[in-house]
Amino acid sequence: MTTPLTLTPEQPLVPGWATGTITLGCDYNPEQWDESVWHDDIALMRELGVDLVAINIFGWAQLQPQPGPFDFSRLDRILSMLHEAGIRVNLGTGTSSPPPWLARVHPETLPQFANGTLAWPGGRQAWCPSSVVFRQKAIELVTAMAERYGNHPAVAVWHVSNELGCHNALCYCDASARAFRTWLRARYGTLDALNSAWGTAFWSQRYGTWDDVLPPRATRSAGNPAQLLDFKRFSSDELLDYYRAEAAVLREHSSVPVTTNLMVTAHIQTLDYFSWAPELDFIANDHYLDHRLADPLAELAFSADLTRGLAAGQPWMVMETSTSAVSWQPVNHAKREGELLRTVLGHVARGADSICFFQWRASRSGAEKFHSALLPHSGTAGQGWAQSVELSSVLDRLNPVVGSRVHARAALVFSWEAWWAAEGDSHPSSLLRYLPEAHRYHRALRALGITVDMVAPGTDLTSYDLVVVPTLYTVTDAASVAIADAAAAGATVLITPFTGIVDERDTVIAGGYPGAFRELLGLTIDEFRPLAAEATVSLSSGAHGSIWTDAVRVTDAEIVASYSDGPAAASPAITRRPVGSGTAWYVSTVLDDDSLLRLARDLAADAGVPIVEVGYDVDVVTRQTDTHHITFIINHRSEPIAVPYAGLDLVSGETVTDATPLPAGAVRVVISERSDRGA
Ligand code: GLA
Repeated sequence: MTTPLTLTPEQPLVPGWATGTITLGCDYNPEQWDESVWHDDIALMRELGVDLVAINIFGWAQLQPQPGPFDFSRLDRILSMLHEAGIRVNLGTGTSSPPPWLARVHPETLPQFANGTLAWPGGRQAWCPSSVVFRQKAIELVTAMAERYGNHPAVAVWHVSNELGCHNALCYCDASARAFRTWLRARYGTLDALNSAWGTAFWSQRYGTWDDVLPPRATRSAGNPAQLLDFKRFSSDELLDYYRAEAAVLREHSSVPVTTNLMVTAHIQTLDYFSWAPELDFIANDHYLDHRLADPLAELAFSADLTRGLAAGQPWMVMETSTSAVSWQPVNHAKREGELLRTVLGHVARGADSICFFQWRASRSGAEKFHSALLPHSGTAGQGWAQSVELSSVLDRLNPVVGSRVHARAALVFSWEAWWAAEGDSHPSSLLRYLPEAHRYHRALRALGITVDMVAPGTDLTSYDLVVVPTLYTVTDAASVAIADAAAAGATVLITPFTGIVDERDTVIAGGYPGAFRELLGLTIDEFRPLAAEATVSLSSGAHGSIWTDAVRVTDAEIVASYSDGPAAASPAITRRPVGSGTAWYVSTVLDDDSLLRLARDLAADAGVPIVEVGYDVDVVTRQTDTHHITFIINHRSEPIAVPYAGLDLVSGETVTDATPLPAGAVRVVISERSDRGA
């Protein structure tokens, strides 16, 4: 018997789309299969316990093979069959990829690259986000879908398009140019204001008429960085506007929750999801392990924490992940034994209450035929199906987790705008990359068992004990005030290189770097002193850095470590300034892993945040209810580990003590009564 849980009234047990159990779901592409296969599929879905199925994600060409009326007959049938089987539907609006005829009849809907070439149909998402014609055709389909299925009893979720912006976020065509101008007029009002914001006095770029303003098309030299930054903002807003248009139609005809699958991941940076999140009825993320990265599991943890940040702590959904290999990386690694469960629990630990897969049945043709699936090419006889069955049974045992929340004492300020701006051209060093910096700080905290909330700049940070601000190159006043307030309220705040350098127009905040944080940190940087690609520097504390150093002049701070060598030799490298009841730290280089871990320990001690030395390949995350702690321990290591959590293990059903080792590759979800109740 599982210990009963109680939730506070402010914590609704489940959001509207969920059922009180951990949802197991999948994408299903019935259009790829003969109808005779559908019966087998649905029987096997029931056998596996699949209870949410996403359909019609790429259905447009089947619904409307030629310009003219829609044929919903097959979609009607599969919806009825799923409903009769008691399986809920996550219904795609089907607009993600238009049928081939649209490009023939309306070639102006095709998106354009920065160099003026067109992206052709034959892949997917071959449409310009600013195309009036595309939007009109897509909204016709969405309206027909909403009218027909808005009250269908099977439909539990509306799934707008698919991974908006995955391939077409940045379009440079004439329609995009017109829409960009409209967006700029709304932002700046006058051409003078635009000229001033973009610094067009430089290189003879001053605009005399709006008609000359273009997207940042390919140039022979570095482009205008403020124009590039605004184009990224515009492109994110443009697709959000498109999402809103579909959502408005759905909401007019249906009370079913509306969302879309975000891509909080390392290789897509085009949408500012903090501005998107309020428009989604619940947050859904697609996540795949990225083996091009040095530490894909650390990135999973980062993505899941960031997704929880978008969900403002509410339960969220993994709308897509893979059972094993994907098909779009240079080498598509199969998951090792137990890795499916470990990675899935990495998401659940960080707040996901629903786990859905791409896809149900492995395709036999098309670009994704070697992508793994719940039902692989080997059918139910192989190891793949056995793993799917095992996963389903473990998820069933985790139902008590549903509705519990993750509580974090540390926050990391994350910003898509800073990511876009920090990685612009013509900076002191192209080696300093925004996302890897953010990843590395998150990874070090994870290795110490510290759970991190990821928050947007400007968020009130005063409830956190530890706040990390990696490379927040561009800042608003509201963001810098919130960071300073956190320190004044008692937090330990860490600021890293190239933070607080420019305002939101990408204009340098004058008077010495980092303009936005000089006072908070009690220092001034006179000059950046970046390092050559392979160069490293030593610090007086024994730490080592690379990529970046600064010539730092301390005005009111303790020097924790100085540079022993390198272009900033003798300059302070790490500083600490008491501020109110907290502290503000600065680190001016990219520390190596060991040095970063040591710094993270010092910061945790300074902040009074307890640590558990689990290392990089173990996840320890606690979810909580009013009465219970539920701690996930995921051992990615090939050796047993000792973990100090005692209670009932929901996975094995056994009671474990502090001394019960967790075997190699195993997972444990320990539930225990909170000792801090009422605290
Ligand atoms: C994305 C898409 C899916 C599929 C998977 C493959 O997440 O949304 O349609 O292409 O990738 O990994």
